[in-house]
Amino acid sequence: MTFPKNLEESIESKFSKLASKKNKQRKKILSLGLGEPDFNTPKEVLEESYNAMKLGKTKYSSPMGIIKLRKKLSEHLKVNNKLKAKTNNIIITSGAKMSLTLALSAVLKKNMSILNISPCYPSYVPQILISEYQARIINFDLDKNDFSINFKKLKALIVKHKVKVMLINFPNNPTGMTLDKRSREKIVELIYRHKIILISDEVYDKLVFNDKEHISIGSYKKIANQVITINSFSKSFAMTGWRIGYMVANNEIIDKACKIQQHINTNVPEFIQYGALKALSIPPTHLKKYNARLLNNFRYLKSKIEMSANFPISDSKGGLFAFVDISKDGRTSDTFCRDLINDTNVACTPGIFFGKNWDYFIRISLAINEKSFMKATNLLLNFINKTRKNI
Ligand SMILES: Cc1ncc(COP(=O)(O)O)c(C=O)c1O
Repeated sequence: MTFPKNLEESIESKFSKLASKKNKQRKKILSLGLGEPDFNTPKEVLEESYNAMKLGKTKYSSPMGIIKLRKKLSEHLKVNNKLKAKTNNIIITSGAKMSLTLALSAVLKKNMSILNISPCYPSYVPQILISEYQARIINFDLDKNDFSINFKKLKALIVKHKVKVMLINFPNNPTGMTLDKRSREKIVELIYRHKIILISDEVYDKLVFNDKEHISIGSYKKIANQVITINSFSKSFAMTGWRIGYMVANNEIIDKACKIQQHINTNVPEFIQYGALKALSIPPTHLKKYNARLLNNFRYLKSKIEMSANFPISDSKGGLFAFVDISKDGRTSDTFCRDLINDTNVACTPGIFFGKNWDYFIRISLAINEKSFMKATNLLLNFINKTRKNI
């Protein structure tokens, strides 16, 4: 393997180092940083997994994942995502991260152009480079004001660079943007016309606000065979530490992914898969309440930040985050976040982590209880007004 130059540490690792540094200084961080839900893994899931362990589900098992889980997922995806996936088109992996790397490894070739939407989840670029060091990454920026897609520009870039693979993530980390019908249909048309393989990361599919429905792009019949859908149990069931996710794709891609998995990971532990199986039978009532709480936090942030700091903030429609334009402050995102944590012990994530053109944004996680969120927002506002350089 050619080790990618400047392979950055993951965002999760950066945060745990920061937390342990602050712990040593006996300072408690009020974190608006990390991307994981702040509720516990459902009790039924823990019990099911523990029972599976006691029943001896602790040995090697199928690299594709246990058939019971893939059957259940096939039904679940049909009902919830309108995705038609046979059990042979689903592979269980160690989180969405592993699915993403398997998908990229299966489809990328030397000198192939992959279109990456920016800002993006910070692991995407490292994952692309680990999978195919000589892939050509073509970054496409969302609109800075409302995070929409300029389709004229997108099409021009696809044609110019002969893009063969495209990676998208909606609901989006970090912007909170979702795809409306019109945008979804335009993507479908581009994928179809230009014969592109689309990797659609949908890990936040159940975290959508205002009771809106998430539609999987792989549900469009004419491109179904070209779409790789990635999902996971991490966000919807608060199972980030369990490391379980899955990928849905055509037979050829699944076959390649399965071969890679056989040699690298063998299988996701069977008792973990039984926990995930249980998670799929839990009625989604916890998510309705949780989404309402995330949206409340967003509304609080928006009203405060627009009124007291006069920073523009585009509506978060799903996922766990708000992405705030701090260009009126004058500091770069890294300096802003460093000053903020030193001054107030509030942690946010610098926009630069999500792409080089996003250095005047910060990402704020909404996944924290309302009281702490309000406290952190007010500390953030005091900090802005006390220390801002430009105004
Ligand atoms: C967009 C996106 N994709 C993938 C992941 C990784 O998910 P998992 O924990 O299932 O590996 C994350 C985690 O934050 C994410 O935000």
